[in-house]
Amino acid sequence: MCALAHRQGVTMPVAFPPQFLWGASTAPHQIEGNNVNSDFWANEGRHPGMERSGDACDSYHRYSEDMQLLADAGFNSYRFGIEWARIEPARGHFSNAELAHYRRMIDTAKELGLEPVVTLQHFTTPRWFAENGGWLADDAPQLFGAYVERVCSILGDVNWVATINEPNMLAMMASMAQLMASAEASDWQSPTVEHSSNGESESAPSRPSVLPDPDPAIGRRLIAAHEIARGTVRRLTSAKVGWTVANGALVARPGCDEVLDRVQYVREDMYLEASRADDFVGVQSYSSQWVGPDGVEPHPPHPDNTLVNTAYRPDALAIAVRHTAAVTDGTPVLVTENGIAVTDDRRRIAYTGEALKGLAETMQDGVDVRGYLHWSLLDNFEWGHWEPTFGLVAVDRETFVRSPKPSLQWLGEVARTGKVA
Ligand code: FCB
Repeated sequence: MCALAHRQGVTMPVAFPPQFLWGASTAPHQIEGNNVNSDFWANEGRHPGMERSGDACDSYHRYSEDMQLLADAGFNSYRFGIEWARIEPARGHFSNAELAHYRRMIDTAKELGLEPVVTLQHFTTPRWFAENGGWLADDAPQLFGAYVERVCSILGDVNWVATINEPNMLAMMASMAQLMASAEASDWQSPTVEHSSNGESESAPSRPSVLPDPDPAIGRRLIAAHEIARGTVRRLTSAKVGWTVANGALVARPGCDEVLDRVQYVREDMYLEASRADDFVGVQSYSSQWVGPDGVEPHPPHPDNTLVNTAYRPDALAIAVRHTAAVTDGTPVLVTENGIAVTDDRRRIAYTGEALKGLAETMQDGVDVRGYLHWSLLDNFEWGHWEPTFGLVAVDRETFVRSPKPSLQWLGEVARTGKVA
């Protein structure tokens, strides 16, 4: 680490180490298209206000074009996921053809000089797994473990593997799904789109303004699944293994430290504690929220709020990274998601620049950060909504033509030089 931003009112460029990973992140269901054997696909269209993923960005067929865009812009890494519903479309039936597909993705990334960061499960599961009781079923960790064991056959030379994406958000979604199952016609509540405020979004349906706390029983099941998967990945590959945790960058109002501790434990810290034995922990952060006497406060209405109705808070990343380092006792950090849903790409650049300066300060203070993977490479299917655009690249939903935004070049330049001006 070299210089530090904002010392004594002077803005200095910040610099990152040469081996730092610079990339963008995606998830299979959000970009591949036609993920027909997944539980999420089965639910699409069932709730008012919920859009379908359909062909998504057709990245299932166009992944090399997507990776080429990243490589050409100067990045050295790409985070993508393997879709369990494709690998094991029926219980115990594993598809060698689909394993070969994801192996081709790994090969393509490597040929382009992109370090693959591979996620094994990103919110979606096979339908049969959901029908078996999902993560609440007693045998869920073993079922996940059997899938992971098969996938390890293609991961021999992969260096970074994330077992489960945002187990804390997944637990929240499972709690929400239980509620929604009893109310078929209720409005769709995306896990990542907050209740509407007077920000950019006009079409988000009305819903509770703060997501419910995740059920710790589901969390414990996910931790068991993670531990089985971690053991399998370590036994069969040489990859660094961890998982990625959603971080709300929660901050206590004066006198509310105990409320914060309680809320943060069930929402984040139990999952971060499980990362102490991991090789890395993925930090995923977008915005920050206050915790008051009644718990997490909704994002205040503000004209700067994003398309998912969250506050514009580039400082959230540094808060999240510092908290993660403290709770995990220093497990190396990989920023696996950070970004912003906006229409004006200049705001994406401004947000990301500020977030990176904050990240550099955490490193200056001794936090071991290995890389920064921006969410997301493409404008994609935001879990029931197409309106929130997080991408460095726009995608025409009819022709699938990719149109890089200025932010792709901007972040690629940061990746090439290791410097944020
Ligand atoms: C995260 C998810 C990711 C995407 C972003 C915006 O919670 O992991 O798939 O939806 O939010």
